[in-house]
Parts: sequence; structure tokens; C-alpha cells
Amino acid sequence: MLKQEDNERVTRVGRGTPMGELFRRYWIPAALTEQFPEVDGEPVRVRLLGEDLLAFRDTDGVVGLVDAYCPHRRAPMFFGRNEECGIRCVYHGWKFDRRGDCTDMPSEPAGTPLQARVKILAYPTHETGGIVWTYMGAREKMPAPPDFEWMRAPKANRFVSKTWEDCNWLQAMEGGLDTAHSSFVHNEFIGNNASLRNQDRSPRLEVERTDYGYYYVSTRALTEGRTYARLYHYVLPNQQMRSGTVKFLDNGGDDDPHAVPKIDGHLWVPVDDEHTYVYNWSCAVGEDGFPPGYVERWESFMGRGKDDMLPGYKLKRNLANDYMIDRDLQRTSTFSGIKGLNTQDYALQEGMGPIVDRSREFLGTSDRAIAAMRRQLLEATRAVENGEDPPGTDPAVQRGIRPVDRVLDAGQAWKDAFATAMQARW
Ligand code: FES
Ligand SMILES: [Fe+2]
Repeated sequence: MLKQEDNERVTRVGRGTPMGELFRRYWIPAALTEQFPEVDGEPVRVRLLGEDLLAFRDTDGVVGLVDAYCPHRRAPMFFGRNEECGIRCVYHGWKFDRRGDCTDMPSEPAGTPLQARVKILAYPTHETGGIVWTYMGAREKMPAPPDFEWMRAPKANRFVSKTWEDCNWLQAMEGGLDTAHSSFVHNEFIGNNASLRNQDRSPRLEVERTDYGYYYVSTRALTEGRTYARLYHYVLPNQQMRSGTVKFLDNGGDDDPHAVPKIDGHLWVPVDDEHTYVYNWSCAVGEDGFPPGYVERWESFMGRGKDDMLPGYKLKRNLANDYMIDRDLQRTSTFSGIKGLNTQDYALQEGMGPIVDRSREFLGTSDRAIAAMRRQLLEATRAVENGEDPPGTDPAVQRGIRPVDRVLDAGQAWKDAFATAMQARW
């Protein structure tokens, strides 16, 4: 449970709000690389932390991220011409480069001093791991760009995607951190007791604080004294990493989408207070990368395959059509009756309403990781208000981390089993 004022504090992301100012101290995803297939190509509208922006890949191949409106008379830059290292407003022809400088002002007399004075708001970008990142805070506080292991993995071992979510970023991320729900809403095999998460539906949670946030381990009891332990990382302010190498007591076979050893993660990026883009990444940890066709199969299993999507990375199964819930399927085969693991999450998270009222909830022991995350975020917003640096902005503290999951033998402690497995190898 959170007091109403703390709920406001961690959910609102506009400039000048505590959480908004905290977010502006980290590099965050602004778009996917795939949205800018060519230099001088079509510009892309970006809304981020409640700010309307425009992104374009310039002639140098670098993505610029500028105010969506022209500083002259506020015309939309979206209709602009992306040409010769800049975006030109089509209303009166003023042109701006990716640094925000005005490089041409053809509607004014030649040599006008106005040209040097007028800037368009521009944020720096850094492109890596299939994502265009940006930093929206004060320049003198800008940390080095992120450097997670999954970004350093060979290209054949990784993919990224994103999905639009119609709710506040925090309830979306809480769904990601929540490990207990997977035994319920994601139970695709209600009759199959080989599924690890059918064996013990009330996992024990341990949370260990770190410089980047924390890691936590969920432990589920299996038969013959064995346990299933899964170690996740929460990386401030908005990323979670998990390992998905085991799903069944006996491997589920070739068509089991979990059969490829891999780690996954999400970054929950606030579009504004009531909308979120979830960036999804997966990274095959074996030598061979992903087998042919695997990525498509996985994305479809998650409910975000090509056939599942509308323009704008939105889901066809959405709140307006009750996620096309199939009550027959729910009676006979899956716990939720909703197709797609990702879609199941959205049904619950979006269905809470745009910003969930956390003063009306009751947390249990399985919510320990969620409570820890909220505490850290509240602390970090207060640190920034007091003029201190927030934790975890230095990539050095996150570079070496990797999530892991294993079935452990009777008496085996996860701390021993995971000591080296939780270190990054790339
Ligand atoms: S409004 Fe953009 S050039 Fe005039
Ligand atoms: Fe989920």
C-alpha cells in the first residue's frame, strides 16, 4: 500500500514532478533502431515523459530528437523535410540540425542575427542494442550511456521489440517484477503438472539490494527436495531482467518456446502519465544464438507476433475487445483464456485503470520485490530533490549482471549455484 501522495510521487513523470526529474537523470529508450531504416528517411513522432518530440535519422546516420514544434510559430515539425543534416520546417523553411542549432532561416534577411539566437529543443541520443536511447536531463549531470550485457551480445543472439501499453508505467513494471502471477495468469497448461510453476504456486522471495537497484530470487519447492530458483535483477529506474531457461521438470521438447536457453528483459518507458512503451529484449546465451524461426515463434507465443499487432506497436487484442478472451479455453485449457503471455499481462494491468490507486491494496509476502522497488524509487526521488545523484546511473555498476534460473538439487543453495552463473559473459 502507498499513501496517495507517494502514489502520485512515483507515477507522474512530467517535467518538474519528482519521478519525472528522476527519470531525466538516466538514459532511456526513445525509439527502436528499426523505426529509422535509412538516412534522411521519414521522421518519427516520439512522446516521452509527457513531452512531444520528433526523431529523424540525419545524413550522418545519427538520430536527432527535437521538439515536435518549430520555435518560429510552433508549426509541427512532423511535416518537415529531413534533408542535408537537418530537419526543415515546411511552414517558412527554417532548418535545424540534430544539436538544435538553426542552420538556415530563408524567410528572414540574409545574415539575420536571429538565426544564431533561435534554437530548437534537442536531446542527445545514443544508439545501441537496437534501441535509440536519450537523456533528457541537465547536460552537466549526463552519465555515460548504458552498457548492459544483452547489448554486447552478438547480433544473432539478441532481438528487441516494443509494445504500447494503455496505463501508467509503474503498474506495468510491477507486473513484470511480480513473480507469483506466472503460476496463475500465465498458466497455459492447467492440466500439466510437469510445469514448474504448477508445482508450487507461492514462491518464497529474497531481495538483495545492490548499487543498481536489487536482485531477487524466487524459490519454488519441487518433488524429492529439489527447488526451482529464479534470480531476477531490478535495474533502476525501469528495467527488469529474468532468465527463462527452464519451464518444465523434463524439457518441454522442440516446440516448447522455452527450450532455447535465454535471458529476457523489459524496460518500461513512460510515454506520459497514462501510457507506456514496453521495450522487450531477449538474448540467447548459448553459442548458437536463436535457431531459425525462433524469434517469430516466441513473439507470437507472447502475443506480439506480426499478426497480433496494429500500427504504433499496439495489440489487436486490447481493452476495447476484452483481449478477445475465450471463455471455453479458460474452462478447459489455460487459466486466463487470453491468447499471448504479454496480452494476459496487459489485460490485468490496463484493466486496473490508467493509474492504479495503491492506497486501496493489500500486499502479501509474494509482493516483497514490488515493495522494495517502490521504496527505492521513493528514496531516489528524494535524493534528487536534495541535490544528490540518484543511484545506478553509472554503467559500471550494471555492466556485469546476468539473470539466471535453475532446478537445484536437494540441499543445494542458490547462492552457491548462481555465484558464477549470475556474472555476465559478454
Ligand atoms: S513555423 Fe516553422 S518556419 Fe515558421
Ligand atoms: Fe506476466
